[in-house]
Amino acid sequence: MKFSIKSGTPEKQRGACVAVGVFEPGKLTEAAEAMDKIAGGYIGGILRSGDMKGNAGSTLVLHNVPGTLCERVLLVGLGKEQEIKDKAYRDAVRAAFKALHETGATDATLFLTDVPMKERGAAWKVSQAVIVAMESIYRFDRLKSKIEGAKPHLRKITLGTTSRAELAASEEALQQGLAIADGMNLAKNLGNLAPNICTPTYLAEQATGIAKTHNLKVTILGQKDMEKLGMGSLLAVARGSRQPAKLIALEYWGQAKKERPVVLVGKGVTFDTGGISLKPAAEMDEMKYDMCGAASVLGTITAIAQMRLPLNVIGIIPTTENMPGGNATKPGDVVTSMSGQTIEILNTDAEGRLILCDALTYAERYEPETVIDIATLTGACVIALGHVASGLLSNDEELAEELLRASEQAADPAWRLPLWDDYQEQLKSNFADIANIGGRAGGTITAACFLSRFTRKYRWAHLDIAGTAWKSGKEKGATGRPVPLLTQFLIGRTVKKGR
Ligand code: BES
Ligand code: MN
Ligand code: ZN
Repeated sequence: MKFSIKSGTPEKQRGACVAVGVFEPGKLTEAAEAMDKIAGGYIGGILRSGDMKGNAGSTLVLHNVPGTLCERVLLVGLGKEQEIKDKAYRDAVRAAFKALHETGATDATLFLTDVPMKERGAAWKVSQAVIVAMESIYRFDRLKSKIEGAKPHLRKITLGTTSRAELAASEEALQQGLAIADGMNLAKNLGNLAPNICTPTYLAEQATGIAKTHNLKVTILGQKDMEKLGMGSLLAVARGSRQPAKLIALEYWGQAKKERPVVLVGKGVTFDTGGISLKPAAEMDEMKYDMCGAASVLGTITAIAQMRLPLNVIGIIPTTENMPGGNATKPGDVVTSMSGQTIEILNTDAEGRLILCDALTYAERYEPETVIDIATLTGACVIALGHVASGLLSNDEELAEELLRASEQAADPAWRLPLWDDYQEQLKSNFADIANIGGRAGGTITAACFLSRFTRKYRWAHLDIAGTAWKSGKEKGATGRPVPLLTQFLIGRTVKKGR
């Protein structure tokens, strides 16, 4: 799908379809009014007939509207005028694309960027429209022998605006939206891929491919390298698997090397059986998405490389399977992490923190300005925040605020949980420096507390994406989150520095 921005008036557009918004209960937006005028009141008449009430998410396709130069006019319901918030706008754009895909239109001009929203300008509406549009055509069919259904006809999207003032900002927003959407697609593809294909070796190959495309530096550490570094915790998780574990480091240097980088650390468990603390069989297939933290790091780095952001960003991905086996780690085993701290592994299913802690220690070598880890870390986070917000925990107030602002801007919600010292006590071990589990109570917090023992040397935040990286049920699949949040966070950093 190709996107472009154009300033002009809706009634003068040619092509297969022009989409305009309608408020509840049947009030025209400015763009719809312009259409109605040239059509001699035809659209207003349809609204009065009650066939289109402007309810959020409703649509109506009209053919050969008198006076217009386009083949179709698509009315898009926006809900009540005073209530247009982020969700209503995104829902309306989603509904518009659903309706467009059901027509035979190969091109469309959307006049939804002019919809008045209190807190959002044209740039936001443009980038969100691009992201939602790209989501509407996403399919994962590479593992099917026959592709089901017809391909979408829609190829050319024009985002129309009647104001020239915001044109330059909208162009930039278009590029940002495309970069985010591409990053999300990459993350989704990896998350959806079967775990017999998407192994640690496969992730390393993908990172190498990304490095080639964008001219980045990539380092892949194998088991021997990790042994030399003393990554006893990460390697303890890998013991049960036939697939060799890897540690991937992907380096994007978009500004002078003296500028300290942001390091993104993504959990890359390509399949989590639980290990000897085996998970129940039901829905275990879904544990292929336990590498979505890693996927979001690769997606975000692709997005910023595509935009050529003037920033230094390093992606670190510890990746392994978590399998039972004769050689697997047992509950009660004590291992020594790269930091020197010893860990009593009481539950082999709490493996994410065990691979992350060594990656977080490894991150120190980059003298990072900030480290953010992203992980499908705890089922407890799904219980606490559901599938709406990612969990955010941080040792730095400013960083937490900055991430929350980015999440709000990107419409990729996150919610902060406390990281108080009072919770650290749950990780006491009688036999080692620290235990890898803290009991059922506050599971997301104690998991972050565990990580915090390895992040004392820098500003750090942790995103628990167990509930947000994946959808279960009928539309089972990866979501591409939190690529929008992370990319927006990084975009925000370039703006703040005045570039
Ligand atoms: N990968 C899981 C967390 C998870 C659960 C992600 C459900 C997505 C959906 C993680 O490795 C895990 O198993 N965590 C345990 C920790 C427990 C043993 C302390 C959990 O959440 O049950
Ligand atoms: Mn687990
Ligand atoms: Zn896991």
